[in-house]
Amino acid sequence: AEVHYHDFVVQAKPVKRLCHTRSIITVNGQFPGPTLKVRNGDSLVVKVVNQAKYNITIHWHGIRQMRNGWADGPSYVTQCPIQPGGTYTYRFKIENQEGTLWWHAHSSWLRATVYGALIILPKKDTSYPFATPKREFPVILGEWWNSNPIDVIRQALKTGAAPNNSDAFTINGQPGDLYKCSSKETTVLPVGPGETILLRLINAAMVNELFFSVADHKMTVVAADASYTKPFTTSVILLGPGQTNDVLIQTNQPAGRYYLAAHAYESGPPNTPFDNTTTTAILSYENQITSTQPKPAALPAFNDTATAAAFTASIKSPRPVKIPGPVNENLFFTVGLGLFNCPPGKTCSGPNGTRFTASMNNYSFVLPKRQSLLQAAEFGIPGVFTTDFPATPPVKFDYTGNNISPSLYQPVKATKLYPLKYGSVVQLVMQGTNIVASEEHPMHIHGYEFYVLATGTGNFNAKKDTAKFNLVDPPRRNTIGVPVKGWAVIRFVADNPGVWFVHCHIDSHLTWGLAMAFLVENGVGKLQSTIPPPLDLPKC
Ligand code: C2O
Repeated sequence: AEVHYHDFVVQAKPVKRLCHTRSIITVNGQFPGPTLKVRNGDSLVVKVVNQAKYNITIHWHGIRQMRNGWADGPSYVTQCPIQPGGTYTYRFKIENQEGTLWWHAHSSWLRATVYGALIILPKKDTSYPFATPKREFPVILGEWWNSNPIDVIRQALKTGAAPNNSDAFTINGQPGDLYKCSSKETTVLPVGPGETILLRLINAAMVNELFFSVADHKMTVVAADASYTKPFTTSVILLGPGQTNDVLIQTNQPAGRYYLAAHAYESGPPNTPFDNTTTTAILSYENQITSTQPKPAALPAFNDTATAAAFTASIKSPRPVKIPGPVNENLFFTVGLGLFNCPPGKTCSGPNGTRFTASMNNYSFVLPKRQSLLQAAEFGIPGVFTTDFPATPPVKFDYTGNNISPSLYQPVKATKLYPLKYGSVVQLVMQGTNIVASEEHPMHIHGYEFYVLATGTGNFNAKKDTAKFNLVDPPRRNTIGVPVKGWAVIRFVADNPGVWFVHCHIDSHLTWGLAMAFLVENGVGKLQSTIPPPLDLPKC
């Protein structure tokens, strides 16, 4: 196994998109940031030097970080942020994960421009469980704002409204042909005829789940969130923010140019399938005259819930797996939006003069300010958090009904963790609510991978829905979309001590508090990560 050393210099850099030049925060002046390529079993040592004017941290999304929370990265959860002028070195090992993950800033809205691919190749002297592709490309879906994303979220928090929509979706940082001033820089993937191509798809968008397709080429899904899957063929992919899929395509079409395209999946009104809210890149067979118009890619309607649900349900483990059991912790968490009353003397621009918020089990998560949760747990610092996050919602109601009482719209602000015994088997039902709006929530757990036993619509019904659990070959993931007006059930063993963030990967929802954290003790009855913090761990 190898150790890979990298320097990440966080710095501002002017870039031009959609006819505007704006200074963005980058790593090493690159946007998207550098691609990290390692093998399963290798280690990474990344020295982050903060030359920007914002506090920052970097999160290695999906890396398990066994007993190594100090390298996980979410600011005020596992570390204080790296201040301007500061440095911090993340050291971690990749164990039993292969496929595509990614890294991103985990502080305010910096991840809008601070992100990149983290590719994990098979262990030394082993190969893919599928034919070795001739070429492979990261395909990172993102979102671009003409204004500074930090200002976008600050403004939203000030007024209580939802943040302004982004100005473009992007593929590898480029909006593509259908947006103004973007054609010349459209991402091009050069291929030859008769090849197998591996696309490493990552949804790095801030807010939107995205449908993705390739004109005239079917895709075979072979991995999700750096776990191999049972191969299946599809013409459309759905990715929530945070999720990844590895897909194979065969270049078996007439030589030509073909669009790769992505647009939003949202429960709102339908829209036209291929328009200027679609980001594109071009799959270009060699020796093509660059003036030929690429073939358009078909995408589902924006609100095609059936296609979204069918795609999610198609993902399975390649072989039967040993499902952990029996369950020791039966948890039921609601996930959804909420509304706070406007503080007296202020005007708010949320629905009916309120401000947006979000919650799990009616608690809107608040991050500490003077130390991280992991430091507080490690050193027993009192008053930072409590451990009484409820195992079930304090109030039961018709979660997905149409007449939810407005009294349920106001969650309680708190920093509550749920304690888990080392080694306990956890089953978690995540139930979407119709409070304010119904949309899919891509729920992510740090430090863990979990089996997705089932997803469904309506209110989860233990009697009826337990029969739908896939206890044979459920997929292993780190992020699962809780369907619109529906639920998801996951299971995992609490085998990684530390403080692990659980949150919606839609960043507006995270900012509003759609989060909680697990506190997993280390097996000797202590609420510790067991590895002492690195000496260069930043101070608040
Ligand atoms: Cu990819 Cu807590 O995030």
